Amino acid sequence: MKEIAVIGAGYVGLVTGACFADLGNRVWCVDVNEAKIESLKMGKVPFFEPGLEEIVRRNLKAGRIFFTTSYAEALKNAEFIFIAVNTPEGSEGEADLSYVEAAAKEIAKHLDHPVIVVNKSTVPIGTGDIVAEIIRENMANPSIPFWVVSNPEFLREGSAVHDFMNPDRIVLGSTSREAAEKVAELYAPLQAPVIITDLRTAEMIKYASNAFLATKISFINEIANICEALGADVKVVAWGMGLDHRIGPEFLGAGIGWGGSCFPKDVRALAYMAATHGCHPQLLRSVIEINQDQRRRLVHKLRSLLGGSLRNKVIGILGLAFKPNTDDMREAPSVEIIHMLQHEGAKVKAYDPAAMENAKAILNGVEFKEDPYQVAEGADALILVTEWNEFKQLDMERIKNLMRKPILMDGRNIYDPEKMRALGFIYRGIGRGFDGAGTSGGS
Ligand SMILES: NC(=O)c1ccc[n+]([C@@H]2O[C@H](COP(=O)([O-])OP(=O)(O)OC[C@H]3O[C@@H](n4cnc5c(N)ncnc54)[C@H](O)[C@@H]3O)[C@@H](O)[C@H]2O)c1
Repeated sequence: MKEIAVIGAGYVGLVTGACFADLGNRVWCVDVNEAKIESLKMGKVPFFEPGLEEIVRRNLKAGRIFFTTSYAEALKNAEFIFIAVNTPEGSEGEADLSYVEAAAKEIAKHLDHPVIVVNKSTVPIGTGDIVAEIIRENMANPSIPFWVVSNPEFLREGSAVHDFMNPDRIVLGSTSREAAEKVAELYAPLQAPVIITDLRTAEMIKYASNAFLATKISFINEIANICEALGADVKVVAWGMGLDHRIGPEFLGAGIGWGGSCFPKDVRALAYMAATHGCHPQLLRSVIEINQDQRRRLVHKLRSLLGGSLRNKVIGILGLAFKPNTDDMREAPSVEIIHMLQHEGAKVKAYDPAAMENAKAILNGVEFKEDPYQVAEGADALILVTEWNEFKQLDMERIKNLMRKPILMDGRNIYDPEKMRALGFIYRGIGRGFDGAGTSGGS
């Protein structure tokens, strides 16, 4: 059993804290958000992440996890302090490090025994050194030793607990191999390969991984657009490609592109770092551009189907979260698409199984409905934006009959084009034959 403190009780921090507690450690989670901490003390996770609340409750009951807004309380006996605060995008595309810096200052203020500081936030290359410098400059007693380890996190929202407990690899970067090895011991029960390297390389592994995954999606989206022009079906193309083990099937789903709390800011931050260090990140820039184009293409296709104008058209949106199984709306493609539709004078109705409350806080003028059928009622078109499972088994005949015009824009290719057309829909997928309409031609 180790004593662990986790700074930041968000998607990453809370999963980290809860899972380490579940592995038998004593964990203190500290956050500046009082409402979040109050809710967590009562065993209520204030965001949607499957399986997380159960683990939090189990460990609260077992006396292995504690929540506080007090750094003094959280850091008192900590042998390891994990930093898991947010690193949002700054105004130029750079990562905003102010939350990490604030956390480092608080660590320094409360440092009264030797400790290993583990950075789990996604931070620009070189931040490990900056954190060490901030702590050194602000600590009350400079004779107390501390070590900084970079330990980037690769979990995915929606399957965060599973991903944390079943990692493909544990990456640890440090100037002290001994410190990195001590952090590796925390993960030993997970039996994952461990890479121990220097701070900068560890930080780079995280950015390079996210940039590669985003590239894979933008690549298949570019192929999808070529498929539409040439009459091929990208779903089958991706299947055929993915069976090649050098390529692999993951992240080859064509659609309206990536979003969320990580890919957009991380790809832009890497491009920013590259450009400010004399590199020319042309691939990364294209990856970003292709992603933006996917949303525009969809709106453009819809406008054409509706006779050249979206003015006063009623458009239904199925799915708002940036991906299924989360309520996270950060950089969700739905937001950009809805803004474009509204800008062109369309009326928007929407439904999401988990993200409606978060969506209401950031979207104006949208009619939020209680189920997909209410969204379909009187709509001139439906756009499937997030591929929640519950949208895969809808009564599509009923949906079609409720609509004013049976236009179905399948932004995630979850429906069978043939079946949808047989039901009478004017179906448009992404990269599924001429004009995205499906392999046997347009409707
Ligand atoms: N969300 C993901 O899927 C994911 C995956 C891998 C890595 N990451 C990275 O992990 C980091 C955290 O992401 P997240 O999605 O968990 O963010 P989040 O916004 O969900 O959580 C961050 C938490 O930190 C708290 N916080 C901010 N400043 C603080 C401070 N000074 N002291 C204490 N608490 C503070 C906030 O109140 C918030 O609760 C980011 O760098 C992100 O890029 C995220």
